[in-house]
Amino acid sequence: DADGYDADVLVVGTGPTGGAAALALATYGVRVHAVTRWNWLANTPRAHITNQRTVEVLRDLGVEAEATKHATPWEQMGDTLFATSLAGPEIARLRTWGTGPDRATDYLTGSPCPMLDIPQPHLEPVLVGAAAARGATFAFTTEYLGHTQDDSGVTVALRDLTTSREYTLRARYMIGADGARSQVVEELGLPMEGELARAATAYVLFRADLSRYVEHRPSILHWLMTPSAAFGEIGMGLLRAIRPWHTWIAGWGYALDGPGPDFDPESVTARIRGYVGDPDLEIEIESCSSWYVNQAHATRYSSGRVFCGGDAVHRHPPSSGLGSNTSIQDAFNLAWKLAFVVHGHAGPELLETYSDERVPVGAQVVARANRSRVDYAPLNECFRTTGEADPVAAGLAKLRDPGPDGVAVREALTAALELKNHEFNAQGVELNQRYASTAVVPDGDAGEEVFARDRELHLQATTRPGAKLPHAWLVDGAGRRTSTLDVTGKGRMSLVTGLSGGSWVRAAAKLDLPFLRTVVIGAPGAEDAYRDWARLREVHEAGALLVRPDGYVAWRHGDAVRDDDDALARLRSALSAAL
Ligand code: FDA
Repeated sequence: DADGYDADVLVVGTGPTGGAAALALATYGVRVHAVTRWNWLANTPRAHITNQRTVEVLRDLGVEAEATKHATPWEQMGDTLFATSLAGPEIARLRTWGTGPDRATDYLTGSPCPMLDIPQPHLEPVLVGAAAARGATFAFTTEYLGHTQDDSGVTVALRDLTTSREYTLRARYMIGADGARSQVVEELGLPMEGELARAATAYVLFRADLSRYVEHRPSILHWLMTPSAAFGEIGMGLLRAIRPWHTWIAGWGYALDGPGPDFDPESVTARIRGYVGDPDLEIEIESCSSWYVNQAHATRYSSGRVFCGGDAVHRHPPSSGLGSNTSIQDAFNLAWKLAFVVHGHAGPELLETYSDERVPVGAQVVARANRSRVDYAPLNECFRTTGEADPVAAGLAKLRDPGPDGVAVREALTAALELKNHEFNAQGVELNQRYASTAVVPDGDAGEEVFARDRELHLQATTRPGAKLPHAWLVDGAGRRTSTLDVTGKGRMSLVTGLSGGSWVRAAAKLDLPFLRTVVIGAPGAEDAYRDWARLREVHEAGALLVRPDGYVAWRHGDAVRDDDDALARLRSALSAAL
């Protein structure tokens, strides 16, 4: 452009973080260029659990319907199964992902979006395709080499891997979305806390028609208690459905200090046949890989004009399914802030709040995902009796023992399964984030938030500043249901008030800001027909909320303000504090 920039924002990486950042930035009218060293996107299944918050982000960015086409629907995500093999005796089941009747209402009430299972190779093209359609540019087979930054921008060194040509591009800002071995994090010297490679897992992608074992008890995750898989924290083998019911991953732990996983096709075939319990099963092995269990997070996500997100700054195992979810949500937190600064709606200090808000989330996610692995120990104790020649057979015999030992172990199993709700029905982990930063204006007198129920398990909807705007169904002009999330977001700040909040409406009109919309709940287009919003808003109908483009409440005023000048002064000061 005339200022000498090749792009407003240059993104290194096109995984969930880079793809979502490019999509959001392009949607907000920011010139974004993204590079990846590969010739296309993820080619192995990796992340799949897509939680409600992420689907809300996809909805806001207008790609929910497209992503849903590639997803196993929520209802089919079903139970998590524990068995000796798919053909063998079942040991226990856990209702998961909120699909059980005890939790389904929470999931249906908490969000306009269902949880979905979208394998990463299907989700990434949705993000990148929509971003490109909206003007983002992409350079594949392009390696990031390094960067320098100064007061006005970042100069990024790249290599075109087809021609080996090296060149530089100049951008106002750069995003390091370059994954768990992030070069950008290293160059910035972002401090990391925790431990890398504390355990190891083998993954084999294979094809086999397993419908007859699972169609009648749909489940994405099947944990197999076999002597060969009895290793490490989880202590069970995994069969994960990638495409019901013919594409699968088999996973198992292996010793870090040993020779590495045995990927000899014969032994892999034997292992999978053992997990399935079918010695003649036809299997087509597609690929074998291994990955380390990390437990580390950065305590700062940015330095100057460079911002890191995703696996680059939080590294943890897939338990709890938080990897790509957290990555996409990092990008969504950052993108509107960059857009507001690039467009001159906010000062550059706003960008500092990205790190302040997302570091605690990353730390929590890393701890939670690792805890979810450790929490398999009580199940293992119920399923296996150590010291016996066949610990699994002995454990299962005990589990079925009619005597007092059996009673005790069955009671222990109830508690052990209960504990796994923190991994598999953890709606609170997914939706209860609270942001504290200068982009949030705290309530003066509301005091510390008290969680009425277990914070990890249960969503607590609130309009407290720093929390996500509660979802309530409204009714639009055509009589369709529309969410409070649908009438806000989409790259703009929203002033939300009620029919009696005229002074706020006039204040916003007077300010006449291109990035601020006014939402009057109760007015045509946003009727509170079910009165759900009235129950959830926690402020007077004539009070006001200021909702950020990422759906988080920046500020609220609980009471009616009758005086127009007073409303104007309050709104102006809230906006200038938040931005
Ligand atoms: P990601 O690693 O996806 O992307 C990094 C990007 O940076 C790539 O585009 C890469 O090409 C690019 N890049 C890196 N260095 C570069 C350079 N020098 N030059 C140019 N480009 C460069 N998560 C989960 O939630 N559930 C799960 O079940 C699993 N399972 C799983 C299995 C396996 C085998 C793996 C490897 C990972 C998982 N994950 C997972 C984790 C999940 O895949 C992960 O959280 C996200 O991919 C992170 O997204 P990012 O975009 O941050 O990094």
